[in-house]
Amino acid sequence: MSVTVIVGAQWGDEGKGKVVDMLTEGADVVARYGGGANAGHTLVVGGRKTVIRLVPSGILQPRPLCVLGPGMVIDPQVLRDELSSLAKLGVDTSAKRVLISENAHVVMPYHVLLDQLREAGRHAIGTTKRGIGPAYEDKVGRRGVRMGDLLDEETLRGRLSAALDAWSPTFASLASEVPPMEPIVQSYLEHGRALTSLIGDATGRLQDAVERDEIIVAEGAQGSLLDIDHGTYPFVTSSTVLASGAATGLGIGPTAIRAVVGITKAYATRVGAGPFPTELHDDVGERIRQRGGEFGSVTGRPRRCGWLDLVALRHAARLNGMSEMIMTKADVLEGLDVIRVCVAYEIDGVRSSRVPGRDLARVKPVFEELPGFSTPLGACRDAAALPQTVRRIVELAEQHTGVPVRWLSVGPEREQSVRLS
Ligand code: GDP
Ligand code: IMO
Ligand code: MG
Repeated sequence: MSVTVIVGAQWGDEGKGKVVDMLTEGADVVARYGGGANAGHTLVVGGRKTVIRLVPSGILQPRPLCVLGPGMVIDPQVLRDELSSLAKLGVDTSAKRVLISENAHVVMPYHVLLDQLREAGRHAIGTTKRGIGPAYEDKVGRRGVRMGDLLDEETLRGRLSAALDAWSPTFASLASEVPPMEPIVQSYLEHGRALTSLIGDATGRLQDAVERDEIIVAEGAQGSLLDIDHGTYPFVTSSTVLASGAATGLGIGPTAIRAVVGITKAYATRVGAGPFPTELHDDVGERIRQRGGEFGSVTGRPRRCGWLDLVALRHAARLNGMSEMIMTKADVLEGLDVIRVCVAYEIDGVRSSRVPGRDLARVKPVFEELPGFSTPLGACRDAAALPQTVRRIVELAEQHTGVPVRWLSVGPEREQSVRLS
């Protein structure tokens, strides 16, 4: 058993990129199993910030093979831009380091357009407008284009024609034209030619890696509460975010998974619409937003900020079968007078430790209140030197989930982490 899954335990942007970068120094393979360029994973190494959306976050380490798995939806233009930015930084982006699954689905220009048109209408949910929903709709509708199809003109034409036919009434209902097929064929064949050396049998490679007991890290995108089945539907993304998605999204068996590491901030954020019980609408929320730099790395949107929600975290721990956790951004809470942690919900006056299947918007959070702290944490590397309040937040998270917190991240840099257990 050689696979460790890293999964977001909240609504995304928990710091997965930093953690994956930090944990993959000795890894052989790092693989993304779902989502697409809706993700924005930030790595800060030696003072330099790199935001990546499609390539796995192990790319700045010297060794691991970075696999874009079959469960992903890939916008080839975004990928090519990302690869060339990485190459400009001196990163090897050849087939030695990057492998794109031939079975990953392709995000087409009409997916992006449909996402944008829908988001301009009255059923908007605040997506990242990267075409993710429509691309997954084509996938389950069995008319999607896959990365391998970009290498075969006949298949590409067949799939495109099926997809454009299927979307035609939707375009009409959105008062828009179906985009002409020929320019898409030409530009996507060109994408195929440009990426051909990187496209291959990623599933076979991953299965070999499992068999050889290589060290494999599966990198989740988004967060558990955005999962298509178990998130705050319909305010969710369109893929399986949870650790179980690593098995289907990569083509390995669940028995290959050794550990599931949930990433949570010491507070909570959410981008886009949907229920958020512990959301702050006051200057404390604004202070956290500013100090935590809580602005979307993909869209630049201000992230909604609130207190850590241990009912939701327990739910995420159970949904993922988490074996350990890493808590990030504890440093951001420094200087607040009071820090709150949600330890239960009240629903119609009844206290509960469960996330309701529906109506999350109706719950009232019950808080434990902790004194603020004024020690800057950025330089701290010793658990014993952490303020009492920070240790209490970790202890509460462990008590409510039954899952140990292994590391506390105290800054965006690779080295800014404190080993807890
Ligand atoms: P991801 O999508 O889960 O990879 O997270 P993002 O990269 O979208 O957002 C996390 C942000 O917090 C990034 O700007 C990181 O550089 C930053 N970050 C990660 N860990 C810490 C931390 O412990 N403290 C602080 N202050 N920033 C952090
Ligand atoms: P990372 O990997 C935060 C949210 C969007 C929206 C919903 C649906 O950086 O944590 P979509 O474009 O996927 O159809 O949007 O999901 N969302 C994210 N929020 N971080 C992400 O990724 C997200 N990916 C999608 O804001 O609410
Ligand atoms: Mg992000």
